[in-house]
Amino acid sequence: MEKINIQQPEGKLGVLVVGISGAVSSTFIAGTFSVRKQLSRPIGSITQMATIRLGQRNENRFPKIKDVVPLASLDELVFGGWDIHDENLYESSLYAEVLEKDHLAPIKEELEQIRPMTAVFDQNYVKRLHGTHVKSGESKWDMVKQVRQDIRDFKAKNGCDRVVVIWCGSTEVFLPASDIHKDLATFEKAMKENHADIAPSMIYAYAAIAEDVPYINGAPNLTVDFPAMRQHAENHNVPICGKDFKTGQTMLKTVLAPMFKTRMLGLNGWFSTNILGNRDGEVLDDPGSFKTKEESKLSVINTILQPELYPELYKEVYHKVRINYYPPRKDNKEGWDNIDLFGWMGYPMQMKVDFLCRDSILAAPLCLDLVLLTDLAKRCGFSGIQHWLSFYFKSPMHEENQMPEHDLFIQSVKLKNTLRMVINEKPVDFLDETIELFR
Ligand SMILES: NC(=O)c1ccc[n+]([C@@H]2O[C@H](COP(=O)([O-])OP(=O)(O)OC[C@H]3O[C@@H](n4cnc5c(N)ncnc54)[C@H](O)[C@@H]3O)[C@@H](O)[C@H]2O)c1
Repeated sequence: MEKINIQQPEGKLGVLVVGISGAVSSTFIAGTFSVRKQLSRPIGSITQMATIRLGQRNENRFPKIKDVVPLASLDELVFGGWDIHDENLYESSLYAEVLEKDHLAPIKEELEQIRPMTAVFDQNYVKRLHGTHVKSGESKWDMVKQVRQDIRDFKAKNGCDRVVVIWCGSTEVFLPASDIHKDLATFEKAMKENHADIAPSMIYAYAAIAEDVPYINGAPNLTVDFPAMRQHAENHNVPICGKDFKTGQTMLKTVLAPMFKTRMLGLNGWFSTNILGNRDGEVLDDPGSFKTKEESKLSVINTILQPELYPELYKEVYHKVRINYYPPRKDNKEGWDNIDLFGWMGYPMQMKVDFLCRDSILAAPLCLDLVLLTDLAKRCGFSGIQHWLSFYFKSPMHEENQMPEHDLFIQSVKLKNTLRMVINEKPVDFLDETIELFR
């Protein structure tokens, strides 16, 4: 195994959030401030709370990840970002109505100091929003230059040594990869010609990568998931990852579906519906944005069940996903699943799941982990798609000739084994006792 030479996390890490005024972003940043002041605990964050087994099971070595992996400390994070709303982060947090005023009061001052930079925005890509705090420019290429300058200015102003960009912005309308996404030269030419297949999120991503900055895609947007952008990331030796945070209903799917499959239980149908009333719910009420989310949510089951290998169990699974905008619920989403399954001799059964969750409370720790882990990836010299971070995404990015891994527990093993290898420890294969049998 090759030893990895990690650059230590010295100095400040700039965290630039696209869609910084949103519910997920404000909950992520406010929560990090609160944890930093030891007023809250970082529940849900693997980097802050989870342990990692090192060596054989009987060695009893279970340190916390953050104590053995050289991650940036929370005290070294500096936040900034872009949004179409010109309000400080305290105002955005109040608007989002995720965190209570009592939780925001002790961190009000820090939040008030953060104001979004003007956004790259075009309503053709998010129909339900109207942007006022936006950039203007002659071409998409010109916008790239402006975002690159924003990144440099932020870095200089805040004395940051490194920067990571994370998209927590709205879900854009569905945009399949087209000819202009196939190679970098064509993609760059298309930006200069203002081609319609280039969404605002791609402009941020291209600019970040050009500045040697890792890019994380928390929405299901195409953004960095096509050959031209992968080439761009490889050229700059920059890690990229996405798509779409795996938080509530899909997280459950990627636990339940492997369970059915491992036990060879069959499925007839899976009906999933949601009600939510935050701004994300309003954006997803538009059919174009919903289509992007639907594709992401639907992709999971087939890949896990492999109907081509098990036609008698999974050939005709009827899978439906619905999202309904219902303002009274705000950020407190309710996700229902009805699963029609069958067992021994084909006898039918049903399972109902009702998850009364909080969307941004589930997403915030993922943002923190992804920021710290992509920064680690960059310092390790990793570039391109970070498969080991699939754990965090509904539609993990993958090469065309490769199957994505959706099973949450396999993803977790991949994540932890990568961390073990980063610190020059052996990956764990859970075969300790089995190997004994062959001695
Ligand atoms: N909360 C979850 O559990 C979860 C899970 C998976 C994915 N997501 C995705 O995360 C994203 C954020 O969710 P949210 O609930 O915070 O939504 P939100 O509507 O509260 O926030 C999105 C923010 O992005 C801003 N925005 C939109 N286009 C922009 C642009 N071009 N440039 C800069 N800012 C822009 C909006 O003004 C808004 O402030 C959504 O795409 C959502 O689908 C959320």
